[in-house]
Amino acid sequence: MITIGGDLRVGRIGYGAMRLTGPDLWGDYPDRDGGITLLRQAVDAGVTLIDTADIYGPHSNELLIRDALHPYPEGLVIATKGGFVRGGREFSTVDAIGNRNYLRQCVYMSARRLGVDQIDLYYLHSGRATDTPFVDQVLALAEMRKGGMIRHIGLSNVTTGQLREAREITEIAAVTAYFNVAARHEGALLDAAAEAGVVFAPWQPVSLTRPGDPIDTGGPDGLRRVLEPIAARHDATIPQVTLAWLLARSPAIMPIPATTSLGHLRENLAAQDLELTDEDIR
Ligand SMILES: NC(=O)c1ccc[n+]([C@@H]2O[C@H](COP(=O)([O-])OP(=O)(O)OC[C@H]3O[C@@H](n4cnc5c(N)ncnc54)[C@H](OP(=O)(O)O)[C@@H]3O)[C@@H](O)[C@H]2O)c1
Repeated sequence: MITIGGDLRVGRIGYGAMRLTGPDLWGDYPDRDGGITLLRQAVDAGVTLIDTADIYGPHSNELLIRDALHPYPEGLVIATKGGFVRGGREFSTVDAIGNRNYLRQCVYMSARRLGVDQIDLYYLHSGRATDTPFVDQVLALAEMRKGGMIRHIGLSNVTTGQLREAREITEIAAVTAYFNVAARHEGALLDAAAEAGVVFAPWQPVSLTRPGDPIDTGGPDGLRRVLEPIAARHDATIPQVTLAWLLARSPAIMPIPATTSLGHLRENLAAQDLELTDEDIR
């Protein structure tokens, strides 16, 4: 288990819901009933944190979660994000927006779509918006937290400096960034988060290709040659080894793998019980 913001106690491995959207993460998930069933099965299988964002769909992902799970079971944490807009199906149309009233509206609308009075964990989706100073964006969320709309604030895709700046303004409960066994360049951000008692949620934890490239949980040849024998020794799969590696990397880590398959979901959760040796981890 891991504790977010001092009071939200969840499993070490969450569930990323982003892939329950249409092609290119645009529009509705084509198998709506299947998506609803999977979300319910995820909770039955032990998922206690679901990661979503207003940009997934946009909006359709939050709505699907509400349709599947509202009223939410006790102890289920829903984390969502705001601050990105998408001008169409092409990923090139994604922009980060930091306007204070825009962010406030994002919070209100996510709460409405999710059917909650307060959002458990609300991330600023990107540290890259340039229309408004970063500190003012954090202040906008801090205000919403003070007003009760947000329980805990998170930061997504920020620098170590931005994490420090934000923590001077308000409490930050979680940080999420691209990090996995093949992409470890956010190590300094992870260490800064861990030192500050901030949960670090690595996104894209199991696909070992670059974001936007076709999914490949086996990874490039050189890495696969390292991972395969470890997986074989533990009678595990490579995604289980890469998740267990993340859990061993830092007690602050809470990976949020995405899947559209119940089998993969169970497999991913079972990685919590896989203990790698020091040699495996190295
Ligand atoms: N903050 C951000 O900017 C940001 C950016 C991207 C993602 N995220 C969050 O992070 C979550 C995960 O990211 P992601 O979906 O890009 O990457 P990911 O979780 O590393 O990879 C997901 C892909 O891996 C496959 N997969 C998952 N478990 C598997 C297993 N055990 N065996 C084989 N294949 C498996 C899934 O296919 P199947 O459906 O076939 O299982 C899916 O296509 C998202 O849901 C989202 O919540 C956040």
